[in-house]
Amino acid sequence: MIPSPFQAGILLAAIGLPAATQEEPTEVPDVRMIVIAHRGASGYLPEHTIPAYAVAHGMGADYIEPDLVLTSDGHFICLHDIHLEATTNVEEVFPDRAREDGRWYAADFTVEEIGRLEAAERLDGRFPKGVGRFRVPTFAEMIELVQGMNQSSGRNVGIYPELKAPAWHREEGLPMEEALLDVLDRYGYREPGARVFVQSFEPESLKRLRALGSDLPQVLLMAEVEQYQRFLSPEGIAGIADFADGIGPAKTMIRRQRDLVVWAREAGLLVHPYTFRADQVPSPYTTVIEEIRSHLFVFGVNGVFTDHPDLARGAIDWY
Ligand code: G3P
Ligand code: CA
Repeated sequence: MIPSPFQAGILLAAIGLPAATQEEPTEVPDVRMIVIAHRGASGYLPEHTIPAYAVAHGMGADYIEPDLVLTSDGHFICLHDIHLEATTNVEEVFPDRAREDGRWYAADFTVEEIGRLEAAERLDGRFPKGVGRFRVPTFAEMIELVQGMNQSSGRNVGIYPELKAPAWHREEGLPMEEALLDVLDRYGYREPGARVFVQSFEPESLKRLRALGSDLPQVLLMAEVEQYQRFLSPEGIAGIADFADGIGPAKTMIRRQRDLVVWAREAGLLVHPYTFRADQVPSPYTTVIEEIRSHLFVFGVNGVFTDHPDLARGAIDWY
């Protein structure tokens, strides 16, 4: 029996080999059609956990995405929200540590305290809650996993960190940009050709990174909300090129306004839309593979954020 892409990815991850090998070009920044494992292989394992990142590597992702927030003692941890309740058991472990608004903030906990929590998948119908034991990793642990698997597999998988709520963190006395550059430098991500994209929904944060001297590849994320309307014109998109190398729009923005990809290309910007999910396929597509192929080969985007990196890998390599 021929294994499915998922089975093959799991199998190869288990034995430490990549699901797909390919030449790694040195262009700056990475302009291939790329598979970005969104929160790791989060369609299969709890988001932002070491197993989810390891399986993403084994499934042939080109880049793996950690969302980042800071702890009270200044460590980056891999977490989507500034709050802890949605994906951890913080309410059980630290019942008295909510703020007045009834929320548990990662920024109120030390990295040692975060290490006592168990992590779980956010979305229903995926990896069951309460099964297995998963932790909230630090960014350093995530990088060490990726670099270790790069060494064992001979591949050069990149990282695609997102700074979550940098303006909020700064108000809390936890500036993220300086701390991010420190960590990236410590692990060898220094030059424009480094296998990294730094992403944020906040243009000011990306500008701050440039002001701090970073020339690492950067991507401005955009959502379908009012604050990004000013970018939705040829001139608006072109302005992003002053501080970023690409845009990461919600995929619905591209379907609504296909010119977005053309304007970005004309401005020299890459386009990496989010998020492609096998269990949330929008009409008129019948499979996520069809949806991904349409975005890559018809709309002309340069990569996709996906919870199912094996399927995206297949959509690109087996077309
Ligand atoms: O970073 C791309 C995409 O992940 C943005 O949305 O909310 O999943 O971080 P979110
Ligand atoms: Ca993200």
